[in-house]
Amino acid sequence: MRLSDKVAVITGASGGIGAATVAKFVAEGARVLAADINREAAEEVAARHGDQVLAAAVDVTDYAQVVGMIDQAVERFGTLDVMLNNAGIGSAKMLLDHDPAEDFDPVCKVNQNGVYYGILAAAKKLQSLGKPGVIINTSSIYGTMASEMTFSYNTSKAAVDMMTKCAALELAPLNIRVVAVAPGRVDTPMLRQYEALGLWDHIRREQMRGEFTQPAEIADIFAFLASQESNCINGVTVMADDGFAQFKYPLLPEAVS
Ligand SMILES: NC(=O)c1ccc[n+]([C@@H]2O[C@H](COP(=O)([O-])OP(=O)(O)OC[C@H]3O[C@@H](n4cnc5c(N)ncnc54)[C@H](O)[C@@H]3O)[C@@H](O)[C@H]2O)c1
Repeated sequence: MRLSDKVAVITGASGGIGAATVAKFVAEGARVLAADINREAAEEVAARHGDQVLAAAVDVTDYAQVVGMIDQAVERFGTLDVMLNNAGIGSAKMLLDHDPAEDFDPVCKVNQNGVYYGILAAAKKLQSLGKPGVIINTSSIYGTMASEMTFSYNTSKAAVDMMTKCAALELAPLNIRVVAVAPGRVDTPMLRQYEALGLWDHIRREQMRGEFTQPAEIADIFAFLASQESNCINGVTVMADDGFAQFKYPLLPEAVS
């Protein structure tokens, strides 16, 4: 097993990607603190995995709660090895329709500040424990691609990519790796918002192979990056988008419809 005896903290743990990653990490031998702003949903995820998973209600926009989350993991499981900053929210409004307080600030608070707080709290804890570790951040293809109606989301994910690089550089002397993963379109509640807009089949046809990525496929990549097998990968955002960011649309959409 890749993550035997490892202790991981995962935020956004009851969402599509988060819950799949909790299951994958447990299957690989890790003990996991599953944190989410939705307490009930986090407890449901934890209940699937017995003593190996502890649920925590945590709002990642509050630094004190993030510090408390890391302390709780160490108190319960005795150490910390992996921090996965995965909680995120979307945005969907044209720039000229923005009210900053509603359409920009909340997205950046979760996707940018939340990741920053997780990096900082985990790094300080690893330093105090005198241990190496891995910090993984969930970015997006939209951290590097522009798209309509998602100004705030893309901006926040670009920040995740840069925080990953800067943190990797400063934390390398402590033997802490910092990496990010940029999923493309993953079939989770976040993506299902397109269903309500009547765009589900349209965006599915934009996928190079005509299908969305599954949450478990992203979980596999997180497990690899959390493990010793990826020891020489550091300071980068790994694209996990089935090629979407390289080409955006297939040349012949009807070929995959
Ligand atoms: N689904 C996709 O296509 C896709 C693509 C690229 C990147 N991502 C990223 O993957 C990550 C996981 O998204 P998902 O697709 O599983 O979405 P999701 O909506 O299923 O899960 C997100 C989770 O984050 C939690 N959350 C929201 N705000 C929080 C806060 N303040 N504190 C703690 N938890 C909070 C939610 O309760 C939810 O459980 C996000 O960072 C998202 O931006 C998703």
